[in-house]
Amino acid sequence: MTYSFKKAAFAFAASCSLLLAACGGGEEKSGGAGSDSEEKKVLNVGTEATFAPFEFMDKGEVSGFDVDLLNAAAEEAGYEVNIQNTGWDAMLAGLQSGQLDIGMSGITITDERKETYDFSVPYFESVTMIAFKEEAGIKSAEDLKGKKVGVQNGTTGQFAAESIMGQNNSAISKYETAALMFQALQSGDVEAVVTDIAVAVEYAKSNPEANVETITDEQFVPEYYGIAFPKGSEYKADFDKALNTLFENGKYEEIYEKWFEETPDMETLKQAAQ
Ligand code: ARG
Repeated sequence: MTYSFKKAAFAFAASCSLLLAACGGGEEKSGGAGSDSEEKKVLNVGTEATFAPFEFMDKGEVSGFDVDLLNAAAEEAGYEVNIQNTGWDAMLAGLQSGQLDIGMSGITITDERKETYDFSVPYFESVTMIAFKEEAGIKSAEDLKGKKVGVQNGTTGQFAAESIMGQNNSAISKYETAALMFQALQSGDVEAVVTDIAVAVEYAKSNPEANVETITDEQFVPEYYGIAFPKGSEYKADFDKALNTLFENGKYEEIYEKWFEETPDMETLKQAAQ
């Protein structure tokens, strides 16, 4: 089984324009709290930690690619981070109310979300993937029509399913967490789920007994994850700068290879930030 998500066909150009506005990054402010200051400022971070390999609970701690990357960026920028498994909806609400400083949860940068939150430069390229029980025999996105489909509520997987099956289609079941969505697939409550590529691949790989197959489709365009901040956040510039440093100094690649066992396509990521 080769599940390398890089093999998916990406219509890269189509998504570039969406990202233009997400690529600010102030040079004027440098270094956050400063690494030499004794008391680093602690930033409150929310996440939905059932989204391996990006964030998941491991012996009571939030672990994953996002966690390693955020820790490295915070270190670089001179902050400390306190990562809480708040859940998805509470994370978004916490960003809006200003109770959280950061949302780090495999969050796709979308035009609509940019009206409500600020985003860092893109740090990961993803695409929608359908995971299904073998017997559902899904060959393309269109085959979702007429099937019982699960999504995580309020995610791009939901939006993708709705764009094919229609909004408010009662055949789409919305779950509060990615874990509940996969449980519904496992139990047969739904025949397919629509989620992000690396998460679907990870699920299929770590649950071989579930007999889950995965496909993507040309109609799904690449999306990019960003660190989310409340609108107007003073921290965005520092984290953009820190991420760019990690892209340059090899640290990002190191973290990427640890979790994905392949090298990242740095060119695509850099272009996405243009
Ligand atoms: N990338 C998708 C989105 O932003 C799904 C993210 C879900 N993340 C999670 N930790 N459950 O909508």
